[in-house]
Amino acid sequence: MAGWGAAESGIAVPERPSVDFGLTDLGDGTFATIDGGRQLRIARAPTRRLVDLTVGADDPDDLDRIAAGLAGLGLAAVREGDAVRAREPVTGFQARVEVCPRLEQPFVSPTPYNGPGRPERTGNRAPGVLRNDPVRPLKLGHVVIGSTDYEATSRFFAEGLGFKASDYISGAGAFLRCSTDHHNVLVLSAPVNFLHHTSWQVEDVDEIGRGARAMLEGHPERHVWGLGRHHAGSNFFWYLKDPAGNFSEYYSDMDCIIDDQLWTPETLEGARGLFSWGPPPPPSFLHPDDLAALMTGSHAPA
Ligand SMILES: [Fe+2]
Repeated sequence: MAGWGAAESGIAVPERPSVDFGLTDLGDGTFATIDGGRQLRIARAPTRRLVDLTVGADDPDDLDRIAAGLAGLGLAAVREGDAVRAREPVTGFQARVEVCPRLEQPFVSPTPYNGPGRPERTGNRAPGVLRNDPVRPLKLGHVVIGSTDYEATSRFFAEGLGFKASDYISGAGAFLRCSTDHHNVLVLSAPVNFLHHTSWQVEDVDEIGRGARAMLEGHPERHVWGLGRHHAGSNFFWYLKDPAGNFSEYYSDMDCIIDDQLWTPETLEGARGLFSWGPPPPPSFLHPDDLAALMTGSHAPA
């Protein structure tokens, strides 16, 4: 079935963002990661939202199944060579699934950490304190959107595009995957359609800390929430805010689901839906400060 290939999303932002987060500016409004290549397109739009999303599929047969799945939801699918596209009916983004090679990441030796009876590194300081190169995300991991009908948007991904469910937030969200990552999409129930966050893989928890530290230097207003560890996906996280109000997450150590039979989706209740440990989530994490303005159309124009 579909794999998470080169994904491209559009995000409304009022100004050209910096590359402080570590993405490579390709100069045409698109940005690249180390392993994933071109994975982000920033576009002007009336509100901050996901504009389009491209997902990779293994085989042209997948496209036929997707077209049939979308037809089952009463949605039109447009075939364009080795791709199929359709508009998500609630939030309005354009989804495109195209046949392309899977994203294969090169092996990186595990970071040595000392533990009880387990001196993995001796005679020197930890790699995490010796590194001084800028943090650069390896790939786009997932996209999180708020939907005024999260069940319908989740059906679009699951029954339409063939995503699988990994976990649920009770009455409020669905973690969905099209790769071996725990989630590539999280659809959240929200009073208005908007882009909640994009999430970018870095090598380990030290890279999350180093990346966040660099982002916050001179820009304390960028801090949203971190450092912590989620329960769903198990990943370490730190969220930062971009100039348009979207959140960008550095993550590492995400759950990996190789055998679908060995993973049982859970419905997470209460705080477990949000996190395992870390500082208390700020109220603005689930209800960003500009939500009311987005609902009434009184947000700052892009
Ligand atoms: Fe996330």
